[in-house]
Amino acid sequence: MIVLGIETSCDECSAAVVRDGHDILSNVIATQIELHKPYQGVVPELASRLHTEWIQQVVEAALMQAGITNKELDAVAVTSRPGLLGSLLVGVSFAKCYAKALGIPFIGIDHIRAHLYASQIENPLEYPYLGVLVSGGHTVICRVDSYDKVDVLGTTIDDAIGEAFDKVAKFYDLGFPGGVVIDRLSKNGDPNAFLFPGPSLDRTEHPYDMSYSGLKTAVINQKDKFRNKDAQDTPENIAASFQRQAVGILMRRVKLALADTGLKRVSAGGGVAANSLLRSELKALEKSGYTVTFPSLKLCTDNGAMVAGLAYCYLKDGYRDNERLSASARVTAFKKF
Ligand code: KG4
Ligand code: ZN
Repeated sequence: MIVLGIETSCDECSAAVVRDGHDILSNVIATQIELHKPYQGVVPELASRLHTEWIQQVVEAALMQAGITNKELDAVAVTSRPGLLGSLLVGVSFAKCYAKALGIPFIGIDHIRAHLYASQIENPLEYPYLGVLVSGGHTVICRVDSYDKVDVLGTTIDDAIGEAFDKVAKFYDLGFPGGVVIDRLSKNGDPNAFLFPGPSLDRTEHPYDMSYSGLKTAVINQKDKFRNKDAQDTPENIAASFQRQAVGILMRRVKLALADTGLKRVSAGGGVAANSLLRSELKALEKSGYTVTFPSLKLCTDNGAMVAGLAYCYLKDGYRDNERLSASARVTAFKKF
């Protein structure tokens, strides 16, 4: 089954052609990063306007790179929730019309589940496993029993981890997108230059929940309070110290969840899964006997291949959407698992 996957939930305009859920024939990602850079953040109106201008060409490029015509497609899949509403609507409207014109099935896909599925494309992992979804909009630790059965164990109670990376970078004018820049700067910084605090949450009722707004505030407003007296106040040191704690907050919950659930496999996904420190800390779990997978860098951030990949699972089980499907900005579809 050959599926065209379309992703326009934020600032990447992407289309991919994937055969049978794992064979990526093409994965075209037209990034808007340069156009949002002057604002150091994604401007929603600009994002949806660019998707409108680019989508047709991106889909055509995906078909061309896959070496097929649209007549060979078996279905069209599109991210329909959650995300920026205007951006989602461009993809959903396009996908609906495209599928209708070709007379083939069409399905809306949840962006969060697609991120969780991304590593399954390249490194299929046996279920169940602990899913770690870390992106600009979400931070979720969950138990994954199948592509469609995901139970949330913990989430952030305020900022998402990627949002914290982005806001710290924006405040110190380090560059955009923040996560990538902080990851790069950290390589030349001392992670112990500033001992930024982690959250002190009530761990009895929600032991796997996380919080990032306190860390963000400490880095932005109170950094001098946490500086080791011999350490220098450089962007590299701020980046490395922030990153150490941001990843630490997550890893402490991941280890606790693994110990409590007895799960032996872990898979990460989402833009922050591209972070080098997080990847090495997750990988280090292998020394304790866990199996760990995460997507290659291109499949961590938003892309159409993860959409087409997950859609295959639904389609082969008979799921379809009809023309009444709309886009939804909210995460309610995820919460109801
Ligand atoms: O999954 P994604 O492309 O979009 C959302 O669904 O949010 O994730 C984007 C997020 C941004 O916050 C970006 O700063 C972060 O992923 N990111 C990183 C890295 N690469 C991207 N964060 C930390 N380290 C990275 N190497
Ligand atoms: Zn995403």
